[in-house]
Amino acid sequence: EPSVPRASRQRFVQEFSQCLFDFVIQLLPTTEELAVKEDVRKLLERLIRTIEPDSRLLSFGSTANGFSLRNSDMDLCCLIDSDERLAASDLVTMLGDLLERETKFHVKPLPHARIPIVKLSLDPSPGLPLGIACDIGFENRLALENTRLLYCYAMIDPTRVRTMVLFLKVWCKRRKINSPYKGTLSSYGYVLLVIYFLVHVKNPPVLPNLQQMPPLRPISPEDTHIGSYNTWFFDDIDLLRTRWASANTESVGQLLIDFFKYFARDFLYNTGVASIRAGLIKKESKGWQNDLDPVRYKDSRERNRFCIEDPFEADFNVARCVTKDGLYLLRGEFMRASRILSTRPERAIVAIAQLCE
Ligand code: CTP
Ligand code: MG
Repeated sequence: EPSVPRASRQRFVQEFSQCLFDFVIQLLPTTEELAVKEDVRKLLERLIRTIEPDSRLLSFGSTANGFSLRNSDMDLCCLIDSDERLAASDLVTMLGDLLERETKFHVKPLPHARIPIVKLSLDPSPGLPLGIACDIGFENRLALENTRLLYCYAMIDPTRVRTMVLFLKVWCKRRKINSPYKGTLSSYGYVLLVIYFLVHVKNPPVLPNLQQMPPLRPISPEDTHIGSYNTWFFDDIDLLRTRWASANTESVGQLLIDFFKYFARDFLYNTGVASIRAGLIKKESKGWQNDLDPVRYKDSRERNRFCIEDPFEADFNVARCVTKDGLYLLRGEFMRASRILSTRPERAIVAIAQLCE
């Protein structure tokens, strides 16, 4: 935009960055909320141990990955460290009964779901003005690892990465494009897009590729695989924080502007797959084409309109829930955001309000 004086543009981006930062700070969970959630986790763990003495209940998702907003749900995963364990569906039923009897939670066991879970919710109370919603699953070790991966990425450059991710989470909820059940993208999908952008699109990169860094010492395959999936990544955060200095010094405002622009105009939706492990790769290389014979490959066409490779489950498209209409909405929203930011309202705060309208 040559017509806009550079100085004025720089001033806007600077003010926008500061506003983004102030905006997400007030949306972070309070220490009280975090403490109540940890108490809930401990209570549930104690109860589960009356059924499976060798079990542990661990947090994953936003409560554990550094990208949590106020009142976000709790994702919990039960790991059982013994060989003779009950089937997940039986556990779900038994745990459902137990929690119904012993706690004030509203309980909904889903023993026959693709991934059996118990859904819990708690009514509002003084410590938790909006109550709590919580899902308990079983043996989901990949989710625990991908949570740890996102956490490491969050910790490398907390200010820029967390501000961007948290803002996008608010934005996609307010714009109603954060419902995998209705054909748009999960929060997890948006987080992967941001990491992909900061590792592979930005040049120089803002983040290193943790899955491709050389390990400090030799590692054996049994230590790095869950089933057939390679879950190794460089996870020495202390070392990274002292050794990794990105040559990219762009402000968070500039990064967000470029993020919207990239997904509005440049990303190759028809042929490309966003992979944080390998960068931009081809749908063809994964058998995820959506231009295959519509009769024989109906499923594949519907599932692969938008492709984001899971960091560990490389054969899993995290955006498989995105429908044709959902993608149209998504791209429309990226364009809308990009347009708002390029016309630059008088004040940055107004831009943020408009973005999240
Ligand atoms: N997850 C996954 N595969 C998916 C979706 C989710 O492995 N296709 C796991 C990830 O570990 C993710 C967690 O489930 O971190 C929670 O996903 P989601 O609720 O989408 O993300 P949150 O970060 O918890 O976002 P929110 O605060 O909106 O709940
Ligand atoms: Mg969640």
